[in-house]
Amino acid sequence: MSDTVRRVGIVGIGNVGIAAASAVVHENIADELYISDIDSERAKGEAWDFADSIELTPSRTRVIEVPLEGLAVCDVILVAVTERSQIPSSSRLELLKGTAAITYDIVPKLRQAGFKGTYVIATNPCDIITYLFYKLSGLPKNHVIGTGTALDSMRLRRQLSDVIGGVDPRSISAFMVGEHGDSQIAAWSHATVGGQSLDQFEEDNFDQFGKIDREQVEDAARHFGWEIHKRKGNTQFGIGNELAFFAKSILNDARVVTAASVIQNGEYGQHDLAIGVPIVLGRNGVEKIVKYRLSKKEQEGFNASAELIKGYIKQTLEEHEEPANN
Ligand SMILES: NC(=O)c1ccc[n+]([C@@H]2O[C@H](COP(=O)([O-])OP(=O)(O)OC[C@H]3O[C@@H](n4cnc5c(N)ncnc54)[C@H](O)[C@@H]3O)[C@@H](O)[C@H]2O)c1
Repeated sequence: MSDTVRRVGIVGIGNVGIAAASAVVHENIADELYISDIDSERAKGEAWDFADSIELTPSRTRVIEVPLEGLAVCDVILVAVTERSQIPSSSRLELLKGTAAITYDIVPKLRQAGFKGTYVIATNPCDIITYLFYKLSGLPKNHVIGTGTALDSMRLRRQLSDVIGGVDPRSISAFMVGEHGDSQIAAWSHATVGGQSLDQFEEDNFDQFGKIDREQVEDAARHFGWEIHKRKGNTQFGIGNELAFFAKSILNDARVVTAASVIQNGEYGQHDLAIGVPIVLGRNGVEKIVKYRLSKKEQEGFNASAELIKGYIKQTLEEHEEPANN
C-alpha cells in the first residue's frame, strides 16, 4: 500500500459503482479515485460531474476516468461490474453466466497490469465471483474479499433494532452467514445486544418486547434487497456505502469486525470456496476469520449454503476450462 497517496479504484460505474464513488468522495476516503467502465464515455462524464462538485465536498478527491489497466496502481479496487441489461427476476445466481464472462475478461488484464492491492467485490453472485477473482488474480487469499453477507447483516441488525425498541444497530452484534443469497442464515447463537447475549436480552426484556420472531427477522434480512429491487429496479446506496466502508477500513487499518465473503481455510469446516463469515478487516484485507461455534442447526444451514456455492463454482470452472490440447 502506498504511504502517501490513497488510491481507490472502481470498476463498473453503474448504480452501485456511482453510489460507492459518491461515498468515497464525500467521506474523504481516498486522495485519488480511479473509475473505469466499458462505457468509457459515460465514466468520463461521471468523473467530470464529480469534478464540478469538488468545492462543495469535504475532500479534495480527484476523480479520474481510466482504462481498465489504469486501475492497477490502486490500493483497493471496488468491483461493481455487470452487464447493464441484466435484471435478475428471482435469484442472484441468474447473473452468473454474464458476470463470470466479465470476470474472466478483466481479472487477467488487471493481473497483467500488475495490480497487487486488494479487491472488494460486490458483483453478484458475490460468493462465486469472489472465488473466481481469487483463482484468476494470483493474489493471496486475504486480498480478495466479497461483500458477501455484509449488507444482509446490516439489514439483520436494523430489523432486530426495530423489534427491540430501537436499540442502535451499532450496539447490536449479529451476522448473516453463508451465501449472499437465499440460502444464507442468521448466526443467532452469537448475537449480542450491548455485549449481552440476545437470548439473555430477550429473557430480561420479555415484558417489554415479548418473544422475538427470529424467523421473520431473519427472512426480512434475507429478502429485503428484493423489496427495494421491486420498487426501484436496483439497490445501490446500502451496497455503495458498504463498498466505501470496506475501502476505508482497509486504508485506515481499522481492524473492524464485519461479515464478508472470503476464501475458507476450514474455519467453518469448509475449504476451497468463498462464503460469508465474520472477519477482522484491516490493512492486510482479511486479517482474520472470526471462528464461531455455530449451533448444530446453523452449521447444517451453513453447510447446505456452502454446497450450493461449490456446485456453481464447479460448473463455472468447467465451463471456462481450456479444451484439452491433443
Ligand atoms: N453484493 C451486494 O450486496 C450487491 C447489492 C446490489 C448490487 N449488487 C451487484 O452489483 C453489480 C452492479 O449492479 P448495478 O446495479 O450497479 O449494475 P449496472 O448495470 O448499473 O452497472 C454495471 C456497470 O458495469 C459496467 N460493465 C459491464 N461490463 C464491464 C466490463 N467488462 N468492464 C468494465 N465495466 C463493465 C457496465 O457498463 C455498467 O456501467 C451487480 O452484479 C449487482 O447484482 C451487489
